[in-house]
Amino acid sequence: MSASPLHAKHYSAPTLIDLSARRPTLTPEQLTRSLCPSARFQDVRFRTYRPNPDFPSQAQASAALEAFAARAAQGHAQPGGLRLFRRRQPEGQGIYLDGGFGVGKTHLLASTYHAASGAQGPSQAAPKSASKVAPKTALMSFQDLMYIIGALGMLRAVETFKDHALLLIDEFELDDPGSTHMANTFLAQLMPGGASVVATSNTESGALGQGRFNAADFQRQIQGISSRFLAVGIDGPDYRQRGAVPSEIMSDTAFRAWTGQQDSATLALIDFRELGHLLTEVHPSRFARLLEGVQALSVSELREMRDQNVALRFVHFIDKLYDLGIRAAFSGAALDTLFDESYRHGAYAKKYSRALSRLSEMLQESRANAQQRAD
Ligand SMILES: Nc1ncnc2c1ncn2[C@@H]1O[C@H](COP(=O)(O)OP(=O)(O)OP(=O)(O)O)[C@@H](O)[C@H]1O
Ligand SMILES: [Mg+2]
Repeated sequence: MSASPLHAKHYSAPTLIDLSARRPTLTPEQLTRSLCPSARFQDVRFRTYRPNPDFPSQAQASAALEAFAARAAQGHAQPGGLRLFRRRQPEGQGIYLDGGFGVGKTHLLASTYHAASGAQGPSQAAPKSASKVAPKTALMSFQDLMYIIGALGMLRAVETFKDHALLLIDEFELDDPGSTHMANTFLAQLMPGGASVVATSNTESGALGQGRFNAADFQRQIQGISSRFLAVGIDGPDYRQRGAVPSEIMSDTAFRAWTGQQDSATLALIDFRELGHLLTEVHPSRFARLLEGVQALSVSELREMRDQNVALRFVHFIDKLYDLGIRAAFSGAALDTLFDESYRHGAYAKKYSRALSRLSEMLQESRANAQQRAD
């Protein structure tokens, strides 16, 4: 036997969460109930966004979204009042925020949510006059929106969101003709009724779908989508790496020490092979439920991924883990060897780079956390 493997089955704490035994279910209603910023973005606000002075597009994007949130909230009629005097909603507006990874797009999108829904910052009390009904606002990833439309059907999905003032869609990406058609139809049915939309993406709207499917054959649809949005670019370096070197994977010793520091009641421990198997059986829309109740996750024995499907599932999992703000530790292969070199220059290159950036940030957070505990 190899030297005392650190693994859920070999770990003595009986209360440890065993992810590999979970096969979560999810109804569309459960998914549509919680469309708000994830734990990591609960406390971000426009005022906590610090635009990089070397990249004026950051301050401009922040101001544009802040004004958009205020306008969308004002412009959308509040429920109630005499039907006779209710004016027809003007057509919803769209903003498409595109930029590289780590420039703060999700930070700004979540800030838009908080501003529109009247949420106060963590240290601020609600104003006494907060009796106004907040306009309905929902935030979700593009992938979740596709899942909702697929599960509810187009009619019910449009029905679900048509009374919303604002729909905030993170990580807008067209991976195939199916999602292109669904997104185009959904926006065309929703926005004329008055719902405004903010989308964020790593891809300029004109380049959506390129390299992933025969986008040229779907230009009319892609054009239909992009014509609904005012494009706002945001550029700059990855904020997560500001002043820091990309993080190294944890040594086995550091990994064990970190894992040992966690509360076993909310800790899940899994090796990479087992995680890979689990991710073939759980649909990405259920990853949040898979991780329910988990506050810390240790993934041991990371390996290089040579199958693009395996790699993309792992990327989706990392994205969700990051979003949920779950503490995480990883051991095994070095980060820069995880994804085959060819993937990093292919159609999904940005997804891989983004996942590496997020992995790196989670590792830095965990190291800092371990250090604090040790001090
Ligand atoms: N200008 C900024 N001021 C303060 N915090 C920032 C700024 N830019 C980014 N951040 C923080 O850095 C982290 C990464 O930002 P965020 O996730 O919003 O980037 P992103 O553009 O959405 O990246 P991705 O393409 O990976 O989704 C977050 O914790 C965010 O709050
Ligand atoms: Mg983001």
